[in-house]
Amino acid sequence: MFEILKKRKLAEGVTEYVFNAPKVAAKAMPGQFVLIRLDEEGERVPFTICDYDREQGTITLAIQAVGASTMRLEKMNEGDAIHDMVGPLGKATHLDVEKILLVAGGIGVAVLYPQAKYLKSIGKKVVCVMGARDVSLLAYLDEMKEVCDELFVTTDNGSFGEKGFVTTVVSRIFEQDKNAYDMVFAVGPLPMMRAVCNVTRELGVKTIVSMNPVMVDGTGMCGGCRLTVGGVTKYACVDGPEFDGHEVDFDEVMNRNSYYREIEQKHVCNLTGEVR
Ligand code: FES
Repeated sequence: MFEILKKRKLAEGVTEYVFNAPKVAAKAMPGQFVLIRLDEEGERVPFTICDYDREQGTITLAIQAVGASTMRLEKMNEGDAIHDMVGPLGKATHLDVEKILLVAGGIGVAVLYPQAKYLKSIGKKVVCVMGARDVSLLAYLDEMKEVCDELFVTTDNGSFGEKGFVTTVVSRIFEQDKNAYDMVFAVGPLPMMRAVCNVTRELGVKTIVSMNPVMVDGTGMCGGCRLTVGGVTKYACVDGPEFDGHEVDFDEVMNRNSYYREIEQKHVCNLTGEVR
């Protein structure tokens, strides 16, 4: 059993959980994920590790309550425990370039935060563009302010930071200096990552994306995370979750991702008693 040691609201519909998981924490690296099951009968759900503390033996997950399991998890409290957790899984991120620009959309900042912390710890300059639809959906703002040398914040409706999208800022940064960064690392909803890739492709700036959002069971068996990268079939949970964004066929993966929406909605309605 894996106890919830701490729970706090990060943003509207997004909760941070600190789990007691010493064996996972001992090996966790930025970019990796865990699979959790709430109980013996529960589905396996993958979540990117957004922080870990080897000394305390804890790992931190930021989870958006959008499906049946995550809505059930949201009802659990500190002191409660989930049935199992497997990990760390997936390949760790290697941000081994000199000048990297981090770009986060929505809850994608939970994936970028450990990267930002890691870059800071090895003495690199940390610059991030983070955005959300509304100020209520901005997570890890204080934490990012702490680790970033420069932080640009956008909201679609202008309720915080600059009004607009992260791509506006990314374009502006490269307009000012086309050699400003050797690489962009973008994490967020699929349309946001595709939009960032469209900007950087034209500029010829290598862009890594995290395909974590398309993972379903994280075991390499369901096929839900299948995607085409550079004309070759890959699985986000086994081969990734990070890939060269300019090689990813976003149209295909966004289409497949929508297959599960109806099924998931039925589970949510069963759970909440909601009728649609
Ligand atoms: S998430 Fe099921 S195969 Fe990757």
